[in-house]
Amino acid sequence: MSNPTLSLMSGHRSIRKFSDRPVPDGVITALAEAAGQASTSHHVQAYTIIRVRDRETRQAIADLAGPQPWVARAPVFLVFCADITRLVRAAESLGIPPETGWAEQLIVATVDTALMAQNLMTGAESMGLGGVFIGGIRNDPEKVSTLLKIPDHAFPLFGMCLGYPGHDPGIKPRFPVDMILREESFYGPDGTPDPEKDRNDMENFDKILNTYYKTRSSNVKDQTWTRLLGEFTGKIIRPGMKSFLEKKGFFLK
Ligand SMILES: Cc1cc2nc3c(=O)[nH]c(=O)nc-3n(C[C@H](O)[C@H](O)[C@H](O)COP(=O)(O)O)c2cc1C
Repeated sequence: MSNPTLSLMSGHRSIRKFSDRPVPDGVITALAEAAGQASTSHHVQAYTIIRVRDRETRQAIADLAGPQPWVARAPVFLVFCADITRLVRAAESLGIPPETGWAEQLIVATVDTALMAQNLMTGAESMGLGGVFIGGIRNDPEKVSTLLKIPDHAFPLFGMCLGYPGHDPGIKPRFPVDMILREESFYGPDGTPDPEKDRNDMENFDKILNTYYKTRSSNVKDQTWTRLLGEFTGKIIRPGMKSFLEKKGFFLK
């Protein structure tokens, strides 16, 4: 079963090389406007998007993010901030001391920002653009905050490169739907874990992904999901994140 929206969503692939064709400013405004209509917890709209045009700032962010050269080269680079500054101001304007620092607010702000950003990405793809999210900006969120003057009660969640595609990478396989869609309980209708099915499902997906990695048009490798993500999960990633969030007023209590 399909329709044009589902086909568009199923055709997603991250774009990291862009043509020189400029993206009109009006396109970005239209995308941000449409994306802002995403569902939002309590109507909070807990986000701010910063479009970064300045070449030096872009290069600094590209460097700290990896380096990731596409951050400097993409026609458009956006930084998505999870942002509860307007909530804080609303409470203060009523003379109410704002309750901040709760884990729930961190979830609200990150979920709202991610939903809106994904809508913006899908909208961009519907207009023939392509792009890639850039979580790499969280390698040094303090520096990004300083560069972009991001105040307390807001923090840079991820970036996004956008532009007209300059390459045509294949579509990266995802887990088959029966791995991610279950009936009635986490473990399916009878409610009991089935480790053998889990193992078989993962072996099957490892084969699918291995074929993709071995046959794709660039960066060919002999890799599986289990090896890649298992090794990743054995590493500590961005250990400074908790203290950064505490400093920004997201105290995780
Ligand atoms: C929150 C988030 C952060 C990401 N950060 C990066 C990044 O820093 N650099 C990058 O090249 N890709 C990044 N990606 C893209 C993922 O690597 C990519 O979506 C994933 O491997 C699946 O590939 P596909 O989008 O081509 O299907 C990020 C994706 C998400 C959702």
